[in-house]
Amino acid sequence: MQIIHRDDIEIWVIDNKYESTWYVDREVSKGSMQYIDRYDSPSGSGLNPVYIRLDNMWQRILRILDYETSGKRILDLGCGAEKGNIESRHFEYTYKPWLGRFLHATSDKTGIDYVGVDIGDLSSEKFKNIQMSLLEENCLINNFTENQFDIVIAQMLFNSPELEKQINNIEEMKDASQESALKLKVNLLPQIERILKPEWVFLWQGGNRELFSEDKR
Ligand SMILES: C[S@@+](CC[C@H](N)C(=O)[O-])C[C@H]1O[C@@H](n2cnc3c(N)ncnc32)[C@H](O)[C@@H]1O
Repeated sequence: MQIIHRDDIEIWVIDNKYESTWYVDREVSKGSMQYIDRYDSPSGSGLNPVYIRLDNMWQRILRILDYETSGKRILDLGCGAEKGNIESRHFEYTYKPWLGRFLHATSDKTGIDYVGVDIGDLSSEKFKNIQMSLLEENCLINNFTENQFDIVIAQMLFNSPELEKQINNIEEMKDASQESALKLKVNLLPQIERILKPEWVFLWQGGNRELFSEDKR
């Protein structure tokens, strides 16, 4: 298993059928993913940060897969949810499951098989999903067989305020502490290693960059 931080993968624009900005833009403008307004930046400063984050993640996925997307399986841990978690109460649409909606809307062209997991409510989503807590023992190995995913993603899960809330039973908004992130990591990492195909990638972003540094190989 390779553990890679999202920002350690450089991205550049390539003239390809999946060239990211064009591709994400077209799907967004078709309204096929419960609409993100590309220009409706909450700060009023131009591009919507949600759109940019989605675009950045999609480009990294393409780089990891070397643009061979067909038949690839992706699991997204803490994929985001419309309601039922602290994030959905405090942020307008920032942490809705945009990646899942995008990959579902485009799956006929990419051939990617995506599954999203979150503690929040996913019942209205069209993509394959499981609502569960990732702090539960054996949650992944009880739900997935060995060696079945090409990429496991955790974008902004290890610093999630919802994670901090669950572990410390608080209501205030704050990023997950190092201890909470470690607790999640200790539960999840061996399970991720089981369900990922050998030599494939656990891609994460958010929180302390040192969290996985000793595991890099
Ligand atoms: C900051 S949001 C990030 C959402 C999405 N990955 C993104 O990048 O926009 C963190 C997500 O992790 C979820 N989460 C936090 N702790 C969790 C847990 N123990 N089990 C499952 N999901 C959890 C939250 O419900 C929330 O949707």
